[in-house]
Amino acid sequence: MTELTEIPPIAFAAFASLSDADCHARIVAARASLGDKAVILCHHYQRAEVYQYADLTGDSLRLARLASATNAEYIVFCGVHFMAEVADIMSGPGQIAVLPDLAAGCSMADMANLAKVERCWRELAAVLNAEEQVTPVTYINSAADLKAFCGRHGGIVCTSSNARAIAEWAFGQREKILFFPDQHLGRWTGHGMGIPFDEMPVWDPDLENGGLTPEQIRQARLLLWKGHCAVHQMFQPAHIHKFRAEHPDGLVISHPECCFEVCQLSDHVGSTEHIVKIVKDAAPNTRWLVGTELNLVNRLAGEVKEQGKIAQFMSPIVCMCSTMQRIDPQHLAWTLENLAAGHVVNRIAVPEHEAVPARLTLERMLAAS
Ligand code: 13P
Ligand code: SF4
Repeated sequence: MTELTEIPPIAFAAFASLSDADCHARIVAARASLGDKAVILCHHYQRAEVYQYADLTGDSLRLARLASATNAEYIVFCGVHFMAEVADIMSGPGQIAVLPDLAAGCSMADMANLAKVERCWRELAAVLNAEEQVTPVTYINSAADLKAFCGRHGGIVCTSSNARAIAEWAFGQREKILFFPDQHLGRWTGHGMGIPFDEMPVWDPDLENGGLTPEQIRQARLLLWKGHCAVHQMFQPAHIHKFRAEHPDGLVISHPECCFEVCQLSDHVGSTEHIVKIVKDAAPNTRWLVGTELNLVNRLAGEVKEQGKIAQFMSPIVCMCSTMQRIDPQHLAWTLENLAAGHVVNRIAVPEHEAVPARLTLERMLAAS
């Protein structure tokens, strides 16, 4: 363990007006001084100016596995809050997860919270035997206390790359699933398992009984929480129709956070890691329309250009994940310099009473996927 110094932490104000070029030299120096005491994990949506410093990259599932496998004392997470929480939960007792900017949250994750999910559970329990009939499944894009909720109620976590396998696991436990917070991933997964739409009603947490009748609740197999990712709602069926009309041989790939119609019109649907792999492995000179965040698409387009492949963004409107964008070279330089000086800034530490049941659900997920 690093010995903490007596010198106070360096304030962020000193970094706010640095240019990216100034940050570069300081990031490289701090990184070198930390050596293998630190590892920088980057999600695929990170901007290029940050992504260049990644030691390891991936989608949420891969990053969760990498966080549980690293021995580094400091896990510097260039992603969003729930990802750093997962890194903290899955790493060992002497390891520290750090999020360079605490404002890097996930607006979809914020669409469910413990009070609302507990109220939903009580309302379900008034109609059904919830503990015996419903498996709660939380998308990994959720706060640690919701993962803990699933741990306490026999539930599990899923990501965009294992949702089908996890739903199969969940149905193996109980006859119904309560899926939160992303209705679109839930619906696409349920559709792939042959569940009709009328057995996948939307649970609106702002309405009494989710806005459903007792009969609808009893009939439901998959209850879909009314949450969504604003970035992925920008992609529309019209964008795919236009692309297909202009490029009949073109291929379409989307993230399952897109709406059902976009997923249905796509040739491939999968996690960010899956999207990167499919396009990179595709035949030379193919053209792709990609329905996910812009930083990923721009990077991918550059990487496949040499093979004559074109990867183009699905929406005519620029839509980035504004919370992922919060991580910039200035915050990364500030974080690394503090760590190199023995000061932990922006630590993400999940309290033990949440971390224990949350770890259980994450371990269940890794075993089932
Ligand atoms: P992936 O797990 O596919 O990387 O998705 C994370 C995410 O937040 C997509 O919006
Ligand atoms: Fe959350 Fe959407 Fe950003 Fe993914 S793209 S981190 S779901 S807000």
